[in-house]
Amino acid sequence: MKNIKKQDPQVYKAIQGELKRQQEGMELIASENYVSEAVLEALGSVFTNKYSEGYPGHRYYAGQKYTDQVENLAIERAKKLFGAEHVNVQPLSGAPANMIAYSAVLKPGDTVLGMDLSHGGHLTHGHPVTLSAKIYKFIRYKTDTSGKIDYRELEKMARKYKPKLILAGFSAYTRQLDYKKFQDIAKKIGAITMFDIAHIAGLIAGKALPNPVPYFDIVTTTTHKTLRGPRGGMILCKKEFAKAIDKAAFPGFQGGPHENNIAAKAVAFGEALKPAFKIYARQILKNAKVLEQELRKYEFKLMFGGTDNHMVLVDVFGSKGVSGKEAEVVLDEIGITLNKNMIPDDPRGPMDPSGIRIGVPAITTRGMKEKETKMIAKWIKEAIENRMDKKMLKKIHQEVIRLCKKFPIYRNLY
Ligand SMILES: Cc1ncc(COP(=O)(O)O)c(C=O)c1O
Repeated sequence: MKNIKKQDPQVYKAIQGELKRQQEGMELIASENYVSEAVLEALGSVFTNKYSEGYPGHRYYAGQKYTDQVENLAIERAKKLFGAEHVNVQPLSGAPANMIAYSAVLKPGDTVLGMDLSHGGHLTHGHPVTLSAKIYKFIRYKTDTSGKIDYRELEKMARKYKPKLILAGFSAYTRQLDYKKFQDIAKKIGAITMFDIAHIAGLIAGKALPNPVPYFDIVTTTTHKTLRGPRGGMILCKKEFAKAIDKAAFPGFQGGPHENNIAAKAVAFGEALKPAFKIYARQILKNAKVLEQELRKYEFKLMFGGTDNHMVLVDVFGSKGVSGKEAEVVLDEIGITLNKNMIPDDPRGPMDPSGIRIGVPAITTRGMKEKETKMIAKWIKEAIENRMDKKMLKKIHQEVIRLCKKFPIYRNLY
């Protein structure tokens, strides 16, 4: 960082501040993680200078020897990780990846069946505030009272609305989906299937969760959550959709791909192919299970009846009389970062909902295991129950910092 330090102290200071925040804070936002130094190096590489509109072997500008190399590497590694027939690594992030996928197979006005936001779905799955909801007609399915997707109801809705696309995927749903049921329902009405695996991509790559790629026509993802790559998106699909997906990405939706980001994706996928990543993915599931059990012991109400993945959704208002926003603020005071979240059919508004979402991918990257997860659950309980006791909050904060220092990250970075 010697150049930036000299040339732009303001930005340098902000980077140093963020580094310290990440080192000393307990990161429990379910969609965040710490990339390796190697991924950071690729992101900060000279590939950022290069325009490479098109695809390897078919670019609009000259000078593509090395961009083709890294993009092909990223594609081949992703294919191997997920057993995919075709991969496009150019989507700039998760939201554009979904938009590209929709536009590849839908016409304006077409119907899509997707998961309701408050039941764990994502904004880009048809929330009225999004552009996609203005272009396509989204019908939203929900979970039942047991917290599972009601597949019989899903089939009824599919038969009634005849969607062109049935969409699976979530950002706060914690249970395993029945891939085959989605496939069967879609087959019955001739719909295309798509699964946005943004949250669980790393768990699938690490073989801790079953691979949905053989069951869905199109699979979209981000690369920066459990997959532990750079901030970005990716689309995997069956061969028959390959041309449409590639055309929809470029020139349909995006311009020049960010090859520095694609180089970083290649590095991250290389890491995910190593045996250690399988151990990481399995540990995420163990930590999440311990978190579920501990929070239940402390009488927190868990949505969807528990977790099969890397996160839990907790109704803090229903269990402790504290809103999601209040809990988020109190936990921030003790150095625990997580986010407020809606619970299914939340009686409260999205800005101050009933729940909090807690995820373990980042703490697992730090090397924290069951013992540390138990400590974290205890601090969450103590802080929420004693939220007015500033002295106590300060004491817990010191303990949180101490634990983070025992599991250091980016020790020799800048
Ligand atoms: C399921 C899902 N899809 C898409 C996205 C959007 O990704 P991005 O923020 O990279 O655009 C997210 C992000 O939280 C997500 O959880």
